[in-house]
Amino acid sequence: MSISDPLYVRGKIAGVYPSLSSRRDEAYIEFVEDARNALLHGQQAPIAAYSRDLLKKAGASMTPDKASCDAAEKILMQDPALKTYYRVKRSLQESFWNGIRSSFNMRRDAILAAMDAAVTKGPGTVTLDPDMPMPEYSQAQIHLQPGAYAYEELGGLFYDYGLKVFMGGAADNDNLPKMVARIVRVPADGKVTRVLDLGCSAGATTTALKLAHPDAEVTGIDIAAPMVRYAHLRAVEQNIDVHFKQMNAEKMAFPDNHFDAVLSMLLFHELPPEASRRVLEESFRVLRPGGAMTILDFTSVDDRDVYNMWFAEMDSKDNGEPFLPPFVRSNIEKTIAAVGFKMEPFDPKNSLRTGRVCIKPLQQ
Ligand SMILES: C[S@@+](CC[C@H](N)C(=O)[O-])C[C@H]1O[C@@H](n2cnc3c(N)ncnc32)[C@H](O)[C@@H]1O
Repeated sequence: MSISDPLYVRGKIAGVYPSLSSRRDEAYIEFVEDARNALLHGQQAPIAAYSRDLLKKAGASMTPDKASCDAAEKILMQDPALKTYYRVKRSLQESFWNGIRSSFNMRRDAILAAMDAAVTKGPGTVTLDPDMPMPEYSQAQIHLQPGAYAYEELGGLFYDYGLKVFMGGAADNDNLPKMVARIVRVPADGKVTRVLDLGCSAGATTTALKLAHPDAEVTGIDIAAPMVRYAHLRAVEQNIDVHFKQMNAEKMAFPDNHFDAVLSMLLFHELPPEASRRVLEESFRVLRPGGAMTILDFTSVDDRDVYNMWFAEMDSKDNGEPFLPPFVRSNIEKTIAAVGFKMEPFDPKNSLRTGRVCIKPLQQ
């Protein structure tokens, strides 16, 4: 099968996603996405208010510490409405992964052949590193994604389509990646020759960065081969000139002072704190003086109460996010400063998540 085979067309849903294997599969996944929108996204604020109210009525401590969090767990998980809400949330998530996996598996060989055929196609490139040691944390099935990011050959495709459902339409037509690319900080001198996207997964943000900076060389790295293989196919099909490399962001094969801008979109909360520190050190090294790193990720624990803390703990179990609780407790701002960056204010109106802008000083 060639990559232009009609079985693999894009654009039936939301412009950039490959079609599922049948209209029935699409209807099923759309149903799950709608149900998540109505039951989860739409109810998140009332559920939070309801939960805080339950905690207050029970006289629970609202301080975000471990003992209060354990006590909140007992109170909240005895409530029938909340028990049902979290069971439905988990079931919907399992349902969409099962639906996506079984649908794409029907065309597994053809999709793998399309990714193989794309390897030698441009305008961009893909570089794999099959001998690269994989850290243990890469085995976590984050978001419950089958096979994790790195150990299922169709992982990039699963992630791309899964994100569409997960974001409830916000990522359709790459709208979210395009918004992110627009707010990535560039150096004060305005010179943008090379841009790096860390943990690029399916490469939607990487291609959006190229559209935002057409004269720059844009590179996306990811530790998972299935991610960069699929990201490259996705970019080839859109004729966007970006470079994908399988690489560990903790130990990058780039020279010092190489990039003008680095983006990390939702990577750090998926890393153990010691890996985060190494990624920050490496990002500092590969940025040129005056270069800017934009980090878009979850907020730190400082502005949280016990409900937020419990929600992160719950998410770690229920959504396969083992490193989210240590991330929110770790105060990444301190590590950012310790590796030498100067932080600048970030306009929160621009983002769905907390942004951190880190500048490599001109004089060190
Ligand atoms: C939540 S996804 C990132 C989303 C992506 N930036 C986007 O905008 O869609 C996290 C990605 O980071 C990758 N990753 C995890 N650890 C990494 C590491 N040490 N080096 C490079 N990539 C890593 C994972 O394989 C996964 O694809």
